[in-house]
Order: sequence, then C-alpha cells, then structure tokens
Amino acid sequence: MSLSINLTINGQLRDITLDDPRVTLLDLLRERLDLTGTKKGCDRGQCGACTVLVNGRRMNSCLALTASLDGAVITTIEGLADGDTLHPLQSAFIEHDGFQCGFCTPGQIMSAAGLIAEAQAGDDPERIRELMSGNICRCGAYQGITEAVQQAQR
Ligand code: FES
Ligand code: FES
Repeated sequence: MSLSINLTINGQLRDITLDDPRVTLLDLLRERLDLTGTKKGCDRGQCGACTVLVNGRRMNSCLALTASLDGAVITTIEGLADGDTLHPLQSAFIEHDGFQCGFCTPGQIMSAAGLIAEAQAGDDPERIRELMSGNICRCGAYQGITEAVQQAQR
C-alpha cells in the first residue's frame, strides 16, 4: 500500500508518494530527489555525514523514516546558500580549510547551522567540538572546522 505525504524541502513544497514506507529520508533525498549533497557514510547514525535540518533541528537523515515526517520543513546543504551567495558557514569553511576530501563537509556544515540556529554553540572551541562530536571527519580537519564555526557566529 502506498502512502502520500507533504514535505517542504529547501523552500519547495513536495508531494511525495512512498511505495515503501521504510524508505529513509537520506535515501529519498539522494535517490529520488537527486539531492546528493547529503552524504551516506555509515547509514547507521554513527558518522553525521547525512545531517540535515528537520524543522530547524539537526537530524541524521539515515535514521529518519520519511513516512514519519509528513508536513516537515527540511533544509539540506543545497538549500543553504542564497542564490549565488554562499552561507556564512560555507564561506568560513573555505576560509579556514575546514575540509580535505570534503565528504563529511555537508554534514558538518548542516550540523553547525543547526547549532547556530539554536544559539547553542557559543565561541568556546571545546564546546563547539563537543556539540559537533556526532560529525566524524576521517581527514581530521577538526581544527579548521572549529575555527569556521567560531567565525560564522561573529
Ligand atoms: Fe547517517 Fe552516517 S550516514 S550518520
Ligand atoms: Fe574528508 Fe572530513 S574532509 S572526511
């Protein structure tokens, strides 16, 4: 039995029909909507590469069942910039070399965007690292990531 839901994704209202009620938000974004900026690392809630904002809150999209999100407002990395103008976090990541291979970067940036929106992070690097601890970077670019999050809040 198929199921129909509405999602607002990066400002656009979408009618979604789910033939399989078990599809995750991550698979919906990547495989049906072609929003491949959101990455699949572990697919089990351990790496943070799939982080998006759901109703303004950070969420590992690999753990979110799409069927449970009817009416939700979702922001992915593709929805962060304002046209050709990068979001301050994106500019800060470039300025501070907050990446090497870049695979974890969309998740890092979306996680940071959630923290900043919730006014949780502050300027303390230890606090930022703690709050971003769910986002793993195999390249070890943590110093630049932390500096970028600090800068984006100034
Ligand atoms: Fe979702 Fe790793 S892919 S946490
Ligand atoms: Fe390579 Fe983070 S920049 S995994």
